[in-house]
Amino acid sequence: MSSIQDKINNTKTFAIISHPDAGKTTLTEKLLLFGGAIQVAGAVKSNKIKKTTISDFLEIEKQRGISVTTSVMNFKYNGMNINLLDTPGHKDFAEDTYRTLTAVESVILVIDCVKGVEEQTEKLMNVCRMRNTPVIIFINKLDREGKNPFELLDEIEEKLDIKVKPLSWPVGIGSGFKGVYNIYENTFNFFKSNKQKVEKDVEVFNDINDERLSVVLGDSTEKLKKDLDLVNGVYGDFDVNEYLSGVVAPVYFGSALNNFGVKELLDSFISIAPNPRGRETTAGIINSDDENFSGFVFKIHANLNPKHRDRIAFLRVCSGKFERNKFYHHVRLDRDIKFPNPAVFMASDKKLIEEAYPGEVIGLYDSGIFKIGDTLTEGEKFMFKGIPTFSPEIFKELRLNDPFKAKQMDKGIIHLTDEGLAQVFIQYNGNRKIVGTVGELQFDVIQYRLQNEYGVDCKFSPVNYHKACWILYDKEEEIQELLTYRSHNLFTDKHKNLVFMSESPYQIEKAIMNNPKAKFLFNIEHNIDTIEEK
Ligand code: G4P
Repeated sequence: MSSIQDKINNTKTFAIISHPDAGKTTLTEKLLLFGGAIQVAGAVKSNKIKKTTISDFLEIEKQRGISVTTSVMNFKYNGMNINLLDTPGHKDFAEDTYRTLTAVESVILVIDCVKGVEEQTEKLMNVCRMRNTPVIIFINKLDREGKNPFELLDEIEEKLDIKVKPLSWPVGIGSGFKGVYNIYENTFNFFKSNKQKVEKDVEVFNDINDERLSVVLGDSTEKLKKDLDLVNGVYGDFDVNEYLSGVVAPVYFGSALNNFGVKELLDSFISIAPNPRGRETTAGIINSDDENFSGFVFKIHANLNPKHRDRIAFLRVCSGKFERNKFYHHVRLDRDIKFPNPAVFMASDKKLIEEAYPGEVIGLYDSGIFKIGDTLTEGEKFMFKGIPTFSPEIFKELRLNDPFKAKQMDKGIIHLTDEGLAQVFIQYNGNRKIVGTVGELQFDVIQYRLQNEYGVDCKFSPVNYHKACWILYDKEEEIQELLTYRSHNLFTDKHKNLVFMSESPYQIEKAIMNNPKAKFLFNIEHNIDTIEEK
């Protein structure tokens, strides 16, 4: 039997991120195709893989046809065990994506060469930067008339605040797209579109002076040579350590739809992407090869069976070996619990597992004992750090239509926010409940679920808040000005942290100025407080 170390050496856990429509689903499908997890692509959209296969067990998702949840895909490639954590395709569920990013070692970022860096790309990269997550960039849709590659790279460096190093280089673009020169391997791949199956015999030239290359590329050969001179001059040598520390992002060009450039991307990913790494906890770094099992919950998926309010907690194994039916310590609850039915999830299929290793993600049936960020250990009392909560972007007040259902509503909204669907803020010294989300769609989901699962008829009314700002302070005197003049802006989150709900950027500036000893934060990490609560 192989050791935990062997398993770690053979495992990569990553996510693909992009602004909607850049090609994440298409690329995912092509990677699965290489991994043999599926046989024939059959064109992604004709199957609507993102809309029906990936995560179709939340009823509202089916109704709306939007992939709102995260699921895990596992495939093997060149002997490597690869876990691809899928993230929601819809931007309203971006917070779910942010949390999923805490459970991976690296990401592939897809950018549409026509549109360049888009709003969601920037937000996602900000999250990657918080943990110095290594990023490989795939510039997609080279078969379409896109921006000049140099311009694109400048835009990426500027907007995403990361250095880039192209490891492949395109010749032509759109209708004139001829192929991609692989700088890492010194080969040239001639563009062939192949939408249906894995391309095995891509044409490969062995060096830039190969005569066949100038026959094929004609005038473009000189241009390619010039471009490559410039690329080498401007971007320098590739240092894998700079990639691993999140400073430099290697860049590949291709067309996911045509299955072009995808194999190069995957081969490079296999060779440079990090294996499961150590992670920071409240008791210091826990290494992935630590003998004792530990892991944390980064996602809670509700409603497998709407009648039973079942939930699945997705746990990322961080160290040691997880075993079915063995007791583990739930640190926040200070309780030992065993799990008779741990499962791995692939789209809506599930398979019972006996054991799991670092880098793997398992689904644990949850009767309501888990919150996002919860840690399981073999008895040690630490919690994993680095699961961020951001200020929501849209706020609404939750109001009951039926005043006798107050208790059910409180219970329902607490459960739903435990799953990470939204955040709830409760008025300081009061009872108003403000729900905050990153997208309008969540309000519909919450209203629907409160009605269907908790029998609560409620509505949302508009409020005028634009940001939630967490306040850290030692003594009440430090926030005296807020307590005296701004108490109507004060709320608490579920962990009883004090939150300033501001109506304008100016209000925050003023609050910061008038309460100089307090700290104002736009994001907060789970578990900083919860471990101390006990
Ligand atoms: P997402 O998951 O990031 O939201 O993007 P998705 O893969 O769904 O791709 C968005 C659209 O871009 C799809 O077209 C897809 O076919 C197309 N696409 C992906 N990769 C490429 C590429 O390399 N070249 C070109 N030209 N298009 C690409 P759609 O019109 O939304 O769907 P469909 O009509 O193709 O089914």
